[in-house]
Amino acid sequence: MRYLTFALAKGRLAKTTLGLLEQIGITCEEMKDPDTRKLIFVNEDLKLKFFLSKATDVPTYVEYGAADIGVVGRDTILEEGRNLYEVLDLGFGKCRMCVCGPESARELLNSHAMIRVASKYPNIAKNYFHNVKQQTVEIVKLNGSVELAPIVGLSEVIVDIVETGTTLRENGLTVLEEVCPLSARMVVNQVSMKMEQERIRDIITKLAQLQSDTK
Ligand code: PRP
Repeated sequence: MRYLTFALAKGRLAKTTLGLLEQIGITCEEMKDPDTRKLIFVNEDLKLKFFLSKATDVPTYVEYGAADIGVVGRDTILEEGRNLYEVLDLGFGKCRMCVCGPESARELLNSHAMIRVASKYPNIAKNYFHNVKQQTVEIVKLNGSVELAPIVGLSEVIVDIVETGTTLRENGLTVLEEVCPLSARMVVNQVSMKMEQERIRDIITKLAQLQSDTK
């Protein structure tokens, strides 16, 4: 039997995913050692491999088949636009992609004014403004703490993830429009889905069952 390889987005997402996989009998003891510097972990009995990568790289590993299965946020999947199958909404890491800014910027969004939009997600922002709203805007790519942009005058609005809304509130900003809902998703390489259909379907079915049991 060949190995099935999982690529997991580093951090909270990976921890929750490993917890879910454990509940369906997929464990990886090696990965639990907090001092390890290893990058790839193996479960010889189940013929599984796991690795952690930066979230934005997960779709890349899966598209090229270096991983058969990936777990990553829908934000990253949409932004990266890779060729892969999105097979399951894992139901955690729920949040929203939103257009945010000061209340005073609301009118700019209905006026077809030429505005600047700062975002860590330039493709999602471009698609929303150009294709959904059909408003021509200038997109400015940032790499974090995007809420700063409208405060210091870099942009009128931002496109960013809103979870609790605390970051916005504490900075005098608000949600102006919702772009789409987000959560953790399982993605599968297109060839693996055919070649390893049975094993992959079994994992998807068990995870989906687990979710409906805990609802
Ligand atoms: C994310 C997002 C917001 C914040 C939203 O940032 O970009 O800034 O979380 O969460 P809230 O609605 O619960 O306040 P992250 O912590 O990933 O940091 P970054 O913006 O520096 O990338």
